[in-house]
Amino acid sequence: MVSRDEILVALEGVIDPELGRSVIELDMVRDLKLEDGRIALTIALTVPGCPLRASFQEQVDRALLPLGGVAEVVVSFDVMTPEEKAALTTKLRGGVAERTPGISVDAKTRVLAVASGKGGVGKSSLTANLAAAFTRLGRRTGVLDADVYGYSIPHMLGIHQRPIAVDQMIVPPVRGDLKVMSIGFFLDENTPVMWRGPMLHRALEQFLSDVHWGELDTLLVDMPPGTGDVSISLGQLLPRAEVVVVTTPQPAAQQVAVRAAQMAQKTGMRLIGALENMSHLVGTGEEIFGTGGGDDLAAAIDADETVFDEIA
Ligand SMILES: Nc1ncnc2c1ncn2[C@@H]1O[C@H](COP(=O)(O)OP(=O)(O)OP(=O)(O)O)[C@@H](O)[C@H]1O
Ligand SMILES: [Mg+2]
Repeated sequence: MVSRDEILVALEGVIDPELGRSVIELDMVRDLKLEDGRIALTIALTVPGCPLRASFQEQVDRALLPLGGVAEVVVSFDVMTPEEKAALTTKLRGGVAERTPGISVDAKTRVLAVASGKGGVGKSSLTANLAAAFTRLGRRTGVLDADVYGYSIPHMLGIHQRPIAVDQMIVPPVRGDLKVMSIGFFLDENTPVMWRGPMLHRALEQFLSDVHWGELDTLLVDMPPGTGDVSISLGQLLPRAEVVVVTTPQPAAQQVAVRAAQMAQKTGMRLIGALENMSHLVGTGEEIFGTGGGDDLAAAIDADETVFDEIA
């Protein structure tokens, strides 16, 4: 007959999909009972009505049913008390209970911002595609949709669940292995954003520092277009960020892209390259938006043309 310790060891393989750690490590298992081949246990969730119950149920079954002499596994759910949530927050922050200013990602995490001079050039598409590509390469990847005015990443990636708040910490929803956070999750869909200046900076700062990313190799940031307040604040709040500037082939787009690149450098980001999108029509090769914008931008900002080698 299986022992209590063997059950606890098996439960170490049950991972909270959003927090990315085991239910044992997170202290979520309660009332473990073992009687005549029947195991009963309760998992304390961070929020009531957590959409991930099915995942826990399935993972617990998978972990415990193969154990010797186990005929039945019964999982119940409960919700953590405010004190338990506070303890969990401290644990996830690595013992640091206080909030630190700036973004809370590990020093080893690469922060890659996708910027542009004007809107609609394909920043969000590039961000979403890079995220998918990095995930496929086995990198632990997060996407931060920082486009306060036109957030579109949740929609592009098909994320419908909202982030959960644990104590003062916001846990990003996951899609497969990808973690996604959008400022759009916190805004009313049909209300235009009218934050300005210092208030916007404070809101962004709080938003960035409250999000719990866990361990990431790469954090992609979909920046708002242009060189407005948000871009300046983000430049200051994203430490050691690298920037790729996206443009389309027209001269008008390229000129504003140069300004965005210069601003990124002024706020301490490292410019790693330029990317030309919508270069020509696939099939006919017709250059419907003109030609040369990407090359001109790369020359103007002294960027490396082999940006993709560096990104990968
Ligand atoms: N290479 C491409 N070929 C065809 N369509 C594209 C391409 N790149 C982007 N698009 C389309 O162009 C539109 C704008 O792209 P996207 O939303 O990625 O740009 P953006 O720079 O993020 O815009 P915004 O400034 O509004 O956030 C989208 O409808 C997208 O599907
Ligand atoms: Mg966009």
